[in-house]
Parts: sequence; C-alpha cells; structure tokens
Amino acid sequence: MVEEKEIVIKVMNLKKSFRVGTQDIQVLHGINLEVRKGEFILLVGPSGCGKSTLLHTIYGLESPTEGTVTIELDDIWTQSKDWRANFRNKNIGFIPQQPFWIKSLTVIENIAIPGVIAGKTFHESVTIAAKLIELVGMGEWANHRPFDLSGGQQQRIALARSLLLNPKFIIADEPTGNLDMKAGEVLMTLVRNISKQFGITILMVTHNTDQYKFSSRIVSMVDGKIVSDVINQNSFDMIEEDMKKS
Ligand SMILES: Nc1ncnc2c1ncn2[C@@H]1O[C@H](COP(=O)(O)OP(=O)(O)O)[C@@H](O)[C@H]1O
Ligand SMILES: [Mg+2]
Repeated sequence: MVEEKEIVIKVMNLKKSFRVGTQDIQVLHGINLEVRKGEFILLVGPSGCGKSTLLHTIYGLESPTEGTVTIELDDIWTQSKDWRANFRNKNIGFIPQQPFWIKSLTVIENIAIPGVIAGKTFHESVTIAAKLIELVGMGEWANHRPFDLSGGQQQRIALARSLLLNPKFIIADEPTGNLDMKAGEVLMTLVRNISKQFGITILMVTHNTDQYKFSSRIVSMVDGKIVSDVINQNSFDMIEEDMKKS
C-alpha cells in the first residue's frame, strides 16, 4: 500500500488574468493541485498553456486573480511581499531555464550567493557551497568561471545553488530546455536522487517526454487547466531499487 504523505502545497481554484491593453486575458482557469511531501512532479503541456504562470504564483512572484496558494500552513497571497520574499528564501530553491551568473565570481562563489544575500558570512556560505558542488559532481570546477562550463554543467551548478539555504521545495522551469539528451538525463538523475535523499519536494516544468520516467507524478495542462494527473508509482519503486544498488 502506498503511504499517503502530508500535503505541503495546496492550490485552490487558482485563476490568473493578465491585462493586455484594454483586455483581460485569462491564462489560468481554476487550477486545483495538491502536492505531497517528497513528490517529484513534472508539469507538462503545450507552450503558452500557463505552466510558468502557475509556477510563478506558487513561487510567490505573480499574484493570482482569484483562488489561493497554501504552502505548508500559510496562505501565501494573504501575506505581505516581504513575508513572501523571506518565505521564498527560506523554503524554496528555484532553477530557471537560463541560469543567471555573476561573471566576475567563480563557480563556487556563485553557488554561495544566496547564503550571503540571506545574511550568512561569505566564509560560511562558501563552506556550504563546497559540499553542494561535490553533491552535483562538479568539485573540480569550483574555481572556474560559470561561463567556462557547458550548459549541462551550468545547470548542475544552478541545482547546487538552489540547495544553498536547505530548501524544502525546488521549483524548476524547463531546466533541461537548452540541454542535449545526455546532459538532460544527468540533471534529472541528480534532481531525483537529491529529492529522495533529502526529502525535497520538486515541481518542474519539462517539454521532454523521455524524462517522465524520472518523476513520481505527471500533471498535464492545456489552455490554463489541468487535464490529467498521473501518479508514476512504478518509476518511484524503480528509483528506490536503483538507490539501494548504488
Ligand atoms: N506578464 C504577462 N502579461 C501578459 N501575458 C502574459 C504574461 N505572462 C504570460 N502571459 C501569457 O500567458 C500565457 C501563458 O504563459 P506561460 O505561463 O508563460 O506559458 P507556458 O509556460 O506554459 O509556456 C501566454 O499566452 C503568455 O503570452
Ligand atoms: Mg514557460
């Protein structure tokens, strides 16, 4: 029997419209989604169906027009902007499609940035970054510059950086979108193993159907609605087998 884990994100009747000129364009048409602790959810669907908008409302960047987003026990859109920024820093790591780097800093220093922003010392932040760079198998690149790395290597660094403040959640918007198949699979394997090892809940957008096997659940959207929601239990059993072997 599958054990039911606690619900950690609950999206209820979420609607979002954007004002374009004099018109309101509705992008999300009443999304309901319950995310359980430790799930690795892939959010899929055609370009323009509202995947990024949904991620942004959960991440606390884009306010809903109607409906609620509750993370753990907090209804995040009834809180202040500062509260959300603080909540995000503490709880959610974000991986964009195109990672942002400070060119003048080394790879390890770039990983350390969220620590410094959150008020840790530079030394303390780099110490944590040193562990994370090993976790993603990029230790030998610590003192290079991010732009010396391939796209796949940069995304492994972006993953390490997203973990710096020990998040409960990782939200990733097409992090493999610019990677070749091999580099995409390396990143997906890392994300899946890290999710399992640390119990981090993952919500990721992808376009690549070959990657379904890495996730525990696949949520499909069309035109701002969820049209299917499938648990990928076999895949997660397989993952546990893999992890025992490795
Ligand atoms: N800030 C915005 N202003 C106006 N329209 C937007 C804005 N952001 C997104 N949209 C529109 O909302 C729709 C969904 O966009 P998005 O969530 O980025 O889709 P997806 O990530 O699934 O490709 C698109 O038609 C897009 O043009
Ligand atoms: Mg998008």
